[in-house]
Amino acid sequence: MYDFKPDPDLTASERYRQLCDAADALTASEPDGIANMANVAALLWEFVPGLNWAGFYRMGKDAKGAKELVLGPFVGRPACIRIPVGSGVCGAAARLAATHLVEDVHAFPGHIACDAASRSEVVVPVIRDGEVVAVIDLDSPLPARFTAEDAAGLEALAAILAARI
Ligand code: SME
Repeated sequence: MYDFKPDPDLTASERYRQLCDAADALTASEPDGIANMANVAALLWEFVPGLNWAGFYRMGKDAKGAKELVLGPFVGRPACIRIPVGSGVCGAAARLAATHLVEDVHAFPGHIACDAASRSEVVVPVIRDGEVVAVIDLDSPLPARFTAEDAAGLEALAAILAARI
């Protein structure tokens, strides 16, 4: 059993530092990317308060061979399985290889509502050898839940995971 419980008194950036340390320890010697994403989705759920969805979309291909995001390990309600690159918040983050912080998902053109309860969202690309190989997606039922601290913490996590998923 792994017992990575965050201290409730930590600041957001300290929490992300602990989350990154835990993710590093859990994934360092495991070559299976799906197992690593599954454990990191569970860590995100434990360490980041105020979520209704936390997980991964991996870069895959559609039936015609075009790049498309495919649902990966997550915690939360069942979600959209395939997202074309460029669609929704995840597809925009994948296309631009850039973090997207969305304070109000209803105001984001093309937002894909997998859970009607979601109000805000952050999506961070995982980049390996210059290519987006996955995105980390967090949703919250709270408006404007995510800040630059979340983005920075998740980008540090994405850097750790880049060669491990
Ligand atoms: N809202 C995302 C879709 C994925 S779910 O939130 C899990 C989007 O617009 O890309």
